Amino acid sequence: MSRQVMNYTVALGEYAYDIHIEPGCLNRIAGSLGGLVGDPSRCLIVSNTRIAPLYMKQVRAALEKAGWQVSECILPDGERFKTLETWSKILDALMQARLSRNEPVIALGGGVVGDMTGFAAACYRRGIPFVQMPTTLLAQVDSSVGGKTAINHPHGKNMIGAFYQPKLVWIDPQVLKTLDVRELRAGLGEAIKYGLIRDAEFLEWCASNLEKVLAFNADVLATLIHTSCRHKAEIVVADETEQGMRALLNLGHTFGHAIESMTHYTEYLHGEGVAIGTIMAARLSEQLGYAPAGTEQHIRDCYLSVGLPVEVPVFPAAAWLDAMGHDKKNVGSRIRYVLLRGIGDAFIAEDVQPEAIEALIASF
Ligand code: NAD
Ligand code: GLY
Repeated sequence: MSRQVMNYTVALGEYAYDIHIEPGCLNRIAGSLGGLVGDPSRCLIVSNTRIAPLYMKQVRAALEKAGWQVSECILPDGERFKTLETWSKILDALMQARLSRNEPVIALGGGVVGDMTGFAAACYRRGIPFVQMPTTLLAQVDSSVGGKTAINHPHGKNMIGAFYQPKLVWIDPQVLKTLDVRELRAGLGEAIKYGLIRDAEFLEWCASNLEKVLAFNADVLATLIHTSCRHKAEIVVADETEQGMRALLNLGHTFGHAIESMTHYTEYLHGEGVAIGTIMAARLSEQLGYAPAGTEQHIRDCYLSVGLPVEVPVFPAAAWLDAMGHDKKNVGSRIRYVLLRGIGDAFIAEDVQPEAIEALIASF
């Protein structure tokens, strides 16, 4: 059976790392891990109660076969557990496993496990090697690459965290077969984001390969993931700590985070909130005269074909502004919006007035 193997190096100088994408590679992690941190010793795998029963055994067995002494840390499943309390359980497990400074921690899971584990890796002994084994499409196309790690605080999402790059991102598209299709659609929304920001052709590619993606075709998924990771990596290399262009990756996020927060993180998946937020950003871009008429409709049609929600939930304008005012991406008291000049051409606008946002909200 032919197997599509793809690699991409995130060229961050002394912090450079590889993204390896290969259907079925989950239980072949051991060779690469040894190459990274030296002879097999101790490692900790962090996962959750949903993913561990599916994949922990095979990852663990592969590592043990290669001589690794493996410990596990199984977290509760869900965004609502992306908290200081859950995070401290990872630190407890690292202490109990007595990992030294050059022994690795592996995140086996979606964005929640990856973000929390990365932040624990950044803090434990002031930083230990960290490997991402992302298991959702969202994590494979976005969160596992780029080194943003975080936990939530009652006052805001991802408010406590660090930039801390992994040593390796090891992606097996086959694990997506067990993913809920709603999660797959949400991840696809994040891949589409790269098309909207900087690659109109990729958006067309996504549209023509949609059926295969939704049918979990591992080779097509590998191509989708590779292109997405390349886009993300290029942006991260240009602006690792989001002083400028990395903020483009937040297309739809200012509105999306507000939607997630106003609905108490219970109604929408992250990628769904971002999809609705992107529709709002597109309409704002048209209303302010930046994007040609039809831009919002094009994106709306695209999301509808993917099966993503497109209806903007109704809340008073004050609630929107309040929810967005807490967004950590703001510079001082200004809110930065990622807007579009058209499909494949995003930019950052810092001069959008609250009245324009009120008019936007009133228009839905
Ligand atoms: P998630 O980690 O909660 O995973 C979604 C659900 O799928 C969970 O129930 C999970 O247990 C389950 N799951 C994961 N892999 C599975 C598999 N292979 N089979 C079956 N079930 C599986 O959510 P997510 O969408 O992966 O990530 C969202 C998080 O990522 C948010 O906290 C968001 O803030 C963060 N994020 C971070 C970045 C970044 O750059 N660090 C970027 C985007 C999003
Ligand atoms: N997901 C946004 C970023 O990594 O910057």
